[in-house]
Amino acid sequence: MDDVSLATILDELDEGVHVVDLQGNTIYYNKAIGRMEGIEPKDVLGQSLLRYFPSLSKETSTLWQVLQTHKPLVQVSQTYLSPRGEKITSVNNTYPLYIEGELVGAFEVSKDLSRVVRLSEQVVQLQSELHPPLPHKASKGSLFYTFKDIVTQSKAMLELVEKAKRAANTGVSVLITGETGTGKEMVAQSIHTYSSRARGPFIAQNCAALPESLLEGILFGTVRGSFTGAIDRPGLFEQAQGGTILLDEIDSMGLNLQAKLLRVLQEGRVRRLGDVREKVIDVRVLATTNQPTDESIRQGRIRPDLYYRINVLEIPLPPLKERQEDIELLAHHFLKQLAHKHQRSIPTINPDVLLTLKKHDWPGNVRELAHIVEGGLVTSDQVFGVNELPNYLQTKVPAHEQQSSREEISDLTLPESLHQLEVSLIQAALGKSQGNITQAAKQLGISRQLLQYKLRNL
Ligand SMILES: Nc1ncnc2c1ncn2[C@@H]1O[C@H](COP(=O)(O)OP(=O)(O)OP(=O)(O)O)[C@@H](O)[C@H]1O
Ligand SMILES: [Mg+2]
Repeated sequence: MDDVSLATILDELDEGVHVVDLQGNTIYYNKAIGRMEGIEPKDVLGQSLLRYFPSLSKETSTLWQVLQTHKPLVQVSQTYLSPRGEKITSVNNTYPLYIEGELVGAFEVSKDLSRVVRLSEQVVQLQSELHPPLPHKASKGSLFYTFKDIVTQSKAMLELVEKAKRAANTGVSVLITGETGTGKEMVAQSIHTYSSRARGPFIAQNCAALPESLLEGILFGTVRGSFTGAIDRPGLFEQAQGGTILLDEIDSMGLNLQAKLLRVLQEGRVRRLGDVREKVIDVRVLATTNQPTDESIRQGRIRPDLYYRINVLEIPLPPLKERQEDIELLAHHFLKQLAHKHQRSIPTINPDVLLTLKKHDWPGNVRELAHIVEGGLVTSDQVFGVNELPNYLQTKVPAHEQQSSREEISDLTLPESLHQLEVSLIQAALGKSQGNITQAAKQLGISRQLLQYKLRNL
């Protein structure tokens, strides 16, 4: 492959590619990194890296470090200012570049994380604004859910709620498991508001949302200079002091960070990234996962030692399809709640709609039900009818099912269809007569002997 076509290919990448020679002068710079840093590639070619990016130094530039050490740097995050003064955060893979065994420079492949970082900083900021202690313990109108908000008449759920209440005040870690939308966050908040920590902060962090290198700084905090652009900032563990931290989707956290988390939990102390000082923390840890934990452990996504540390108590929330008794109750609950929100009167629910809801298998669980009810509420007048269901549920309405079984029959030959019809008529007659053959025969208009003969053949 000649140089021109290679350069064309590199220009098409979403990742930034930057190559420097032994003196740190740019010899290749693709379009993606130009977009990221707001620079025309032609302007930077031949320029010295450190002169063009004054916020970087020989110590903090990943390309310079690789030129000096000749060792690759993998997945290192770097924050610096572009020549236009915009703050950029990237995650870089940087390698020494050899030609025929001789070092000639270094190259770097970068992914722009500036947007993710801005969002995560906003999250930290919002969390700290939210975190002033609650004025009243779990009072109505509180920002957080309480056990009273959990609507259920399922025996299994009621028992779990009792179990969670008993655990609430002990301060032990709790792992809440269950499919998406089963109410894990609700239970976590309820444990917090029911506990003696209710006046303290409640902070939730989703572990799947951020790459490991950023999540670490967010959880444990950073000190100025721990990496380029890092500022003095407490982590969420420090912010949750005296309260509760919820680690959502813990199985998505990288294994290295899981090991660090385990150490923090065991020692009850946290150290900001790049700091030498440790702080004693008093934080209750709750965690959730929507994957079966035994599978996550078998597949190596959760470290067993961390799992045993967090899973002092497990609250496994059953999927909605296993709590049939809750479907109608929750549907009415959401109708009432959402009618209030949308300032509408509460419609009645058509029986066919209820039947359809009970037959559905609810992959999105309670959240899916709440959305369906909201859709029905805003589109229906006085009755929430079949037409107000989303399309994917309308095909499951009972009348349609009869239709489809007729369609199945029509695929059969005439003798096969007649046979199937005969079987179902005989079954219906026997059902009605509660197994009494004489009565069933009478109802079918045939002799007892003929019915017995048919039954033997069936
Ligand atoms: N038993 C319940 N009673 C009332 N509302 C419920 C119940 N269970 C869940 N909800 C509602 O359903 C929605 C989803 O609940 P929640 O966010 O707690 O689920 P989750 O298990 O954390 O889901 P995910 O795994 O997707 O994060 C929320 O709006 C919550 O208020
Ligand atoms: Mg959740």
